[in-house]
Amino acid sequence: MWREVLIVVFSSFWVGLLEPIPEEKTSRVSYDGYMLLRTNLTSELLENLEKEYDVEIWKSRSGFDTTSDLLVAPFHANDVINQLNSSGARIDVAISDLGKAIEEEHSFIEGDLEKLTVRKSHGMSWERYHRIKDIYGYMNYLAGYKSDICEVINIGKSSEGRKILVLKVSSKKGARTKPGIWIDAGIHAREWISPASVTYAMRELVENYEDHPELIQNFDWYFLPVVNPDGYEFTFSENRLWRKTRSKKSSIRCRGADPNRNFGYEWGGLGTSNEPCSEIYRGEKAFSEPETAAMAKFIEDISSTLKVYLTFHSYGQYILIPWGYRNNKRPEDYNEMKELADLMADAIKKEGGSKFTVGNSADLLYPAAGGSDDWAKSIGIPYSFTIELRDTGKHGFILPAKYIKTSGREVFSALKAVSAHLTA
Ligand code: ARG
Ligand code: ZN
Repeated sequence: MWREVLIVVFSSFWVGLLEPIPEEKTSRVSYDGYMLLRTNLTSELLENLEKEYDVEIWKSRSGFDTTSDLLVAPFHANDVINQLNSSGARIDVAISDLGKAIEEEHSFIEGDLEKLTVRKSHGMSWERYHRIKDIYGYMNYLAGYKSDICEVINIGKSSEGRKILVLKVSSKKGARTKPGIWIDAGIHAREWISPASVTYAMRELVENYEDHPELIQNFDWYFLPVVNPDGYEFTFSENRLWRKTRSKKSSIRCRGADPNRNFGYEWGGLGTSNEPCSEIYRGEKAFSEPETAAMAKFIEDISSTLKVYLTFHSYGQYILIPWGYRNNKRPEDYNEMKELADLMADAIKKEGGSKFTVGNSADLLYPAAGGSDDWAKSIGIPYSFTIELRDTGKHGFILPAKYIKTSGREVFSALKAVSAHLTA
């Protein structure tokens, strides 16, 4: 604050004398010419491509899913395409130049910034993707403007010292505790549509309270829109495709762990890696990351009230039901969970037209241990789901901002379906 005031005051007088403080580094990783290819190649051959040509697998063929999405660097494109062709695989070019797609996202962000911040008391627009300061600004705005039902709770700090904020929405603060519904987003940094849609649903719940008063009368809502704030900021400033946290291990070059392999249930099992440079690195131990530790601690404290755990990711359009840590393993009450998941999928379809596939996480996608959904289920929260938002791979993680509002409405419709089913 002080620094900003100084800059404003001095810069008009001392142009050129005072070095402006650089806002942030702009040394972004370039994805110019990178291609996203969709192929039906089997996973063993994929691993080869990964090793030999540094191909990044965004999504791999498994379970019911018959295609994989591969990110290929321009200097390997020919070789990779030749390999795919010679193994008889089908190839579709999903994105021909990822750098260009990202640039469009960024230029939109920067062009609109001023207009939006001077216009309103908060910076959120849901017309573009927003940085942490806008998201937190909006949560604080709600807590001020709707202080009768909203409260911001600081649940801890990230590795780089950023706050981790929860918005609790509840009528009559401190009164009788109602059944709780937990919603988080942004566990994986690059899945921008997740925080964007969840904050949209948060807005709908609070600002249009009168349209659906029963939602807040019957439940306490907890929103944690950015579980991994360091990673999220890093995707804006340095590398749009960063997934993990940003924790540092003294002896090791690679930073961060996959927060969705870091939760303390069946930690270290299938679909995880002990290699710090891996995208699915599980961390040194369960809850080694301050972000997952803070979240788990907070949830544990309120867990006896929680009926529902929802965690939003992208992409693929799935509603995933535990267990996710291995195949052919379902909780006893799987069918009850499935019933609610189907209702959410129906509501989403009606609202925004997207088809979400419902099923067991490991069987539908792949086994992956240490996920937040499994952990939530393991501590006794009856309904636990991972929801993979839009799309099904046309844009993948680089979903254009014009889809935010529809996706947000889809998320909100799912929340209404949850509430209706559990109140009935
Ligand atoms: N795309 C998510 C991930 O890879 C799916 C997680 C599903 N849950 C699970 N416990 N495997 O992290
Ligand atoms: Zn994810």
